[in-house]
Amino acid sequence: MEAMAHTTQSSRDHMLASWQVQRDWHPKDIERADGVYFWDASGQRYLDWLSSLFNVNIGHNHPRILTAIAEQLKQVAYVHPGFTTAARARLGELLAEISPGDLCKTFLTSGGGEANENAMKLARAFSGRQKIMTRYRSYHGSSAGAASATGGPRRLDDEPGVPWVVHLPDPDAYHSPVYRGRTQEEGDLVIADLIEDTIRYEGAENIAAILWEGYSGASGVIQPTRTFFARLSEICQKYGILYISDEVLSGFGRTGTWFGCEHYPELKVDMISFAKGVNSGYLPLGGVIVNRDIADHFENRLLPSGITNQGQPLSCAAAVANIEALQEEGIVARVSHLGEHLHARLQELADRHPVIGDIRGAGLLYCTELVANRATRAPLSPWNQSPSEALARFSKAILDGGLHTMVRWNWVFHCPPLTVTEAEIDEGIEILDAALSEIDPYYQD
Ligand SMILES: Cc1ncc(COP(=O)(O)O)c(C=O)c1O
Repeated sequence: MEAMAHTTQSSRDHMLASWQVQRDWHPKDIERADGVYFWDASGQRYLDWLSSLFNVNIGHNHPRILTAIAEQLKQVAYVHPGFTTAARARLGELLAEISPGDLCKTFLTSGGGEANENAMKLARAFSGRQKIMTRYRSYHGSSAGAASATGGPRRLDDEPGVPWVVHLPDPDAYHSPVYRGRTQEEGDLVIADLIEDTIRYEGAENIAAILWEGYSGASGVIQPTRTFFARLSEICQKYGILYISDEVLSGFGRTGTWFGCEHYPELKVDMISFAKGVNSGYLPLGGVIVNRDIADHFENRLLPSGITNQGQPLSCAAAVANIEALQEEGIVARVSHLGEHLHARLQELADRHPVIGDIRGAGLLYCTELVANRATRAPLSPWNQSPSEALARFSKAILDGGLHTMVRWNWVFHCPPLTVTEAEIDEGIEILDAALSEIDPYYQD
């Protein structure tokens, strides 16, 4: 107990924490983890309903990854990025193999925001155009360019941001007035028309790329239809605009396909940015996979970027083991089925608790939106403000019940590791059920 208190206090005294008023940071001291669980130093067990931060796709402590890191460590822990290793080469092969279309070469980074910084940089260098377009409901990272690309409110702390990002009307079917009296597909087509208008106003000849989450994640799992992506792809091709799929959160099996963009066969993807699930978060790693034209472009030209940790051998070895295990153990293949179970169980919760206004997602990436009233869709906790009394109670109840997830405003995320079993999903649903019962009285008929 004393050691735990010391760890927490020392962390508070000498560390700065992310997205946090520091005074409010009371971190749990996590001692060990296995599969879909982790334990704090007091022995309390938590069901990891968020795959830690949407990244531990394969679950904790997977033996193949542990062995791969240990073996690589015995050989060489770090090499100059101008050199290469067998692990880096194999990772390149695997990424080319699992990527859609003619995506064939990867620029490695240390994480997701840095992947997006470089995706935007390469798109601008390749096209000779300046602007990048993104949607309002998005998160792309916290460094200057990626924060500007982010459409969500985290961008607002970094204003005015870089001058070359333009935000687009958002296909937010649950809230946008565009969808009133229209089906989602009809509304999506109106949004696509508005996007085309914005492209004309901004000058199509100035626009290098559209950057869009492969499957919306921490931005609220607000995902348009296949019809939307088919139309958006047509627009990109009409104006020669590159399409970058940000798969940092949705990659590596999260939604039942290797990448979220693969749900949309008509969508032509020119680049994929990734991180998180590439090695299930065991070590820092990210990157950008580019298509053949972009790869060829830099064959005789300088590629204007570099990172000390590019090709970090331990990170690459962990990624190779992770992707091979996801493939060979059939883990990605079982996600859709597990997702159906998760969705059905969330629907049962919605049948019992009217505070659940909406359930959105695919595979093992779900979000439930909590409302004070289903007809008005009034949020049970206000957007971009401190949690309401109801949401504070809910968050405490799930954590006390032994479930770790992200509760952001009135969104609750349901994203366990892809190795979760149906019984473990049922266990999470029970904890959520009890927590929802505590906040049922906040619903207003
Ligand atoms: C879609 C998306 N892009 C980019 C990022 C940023 O990645 P990182 O935190 O590794 O910089 C995130 C992180 O959550 C993300 O969800």
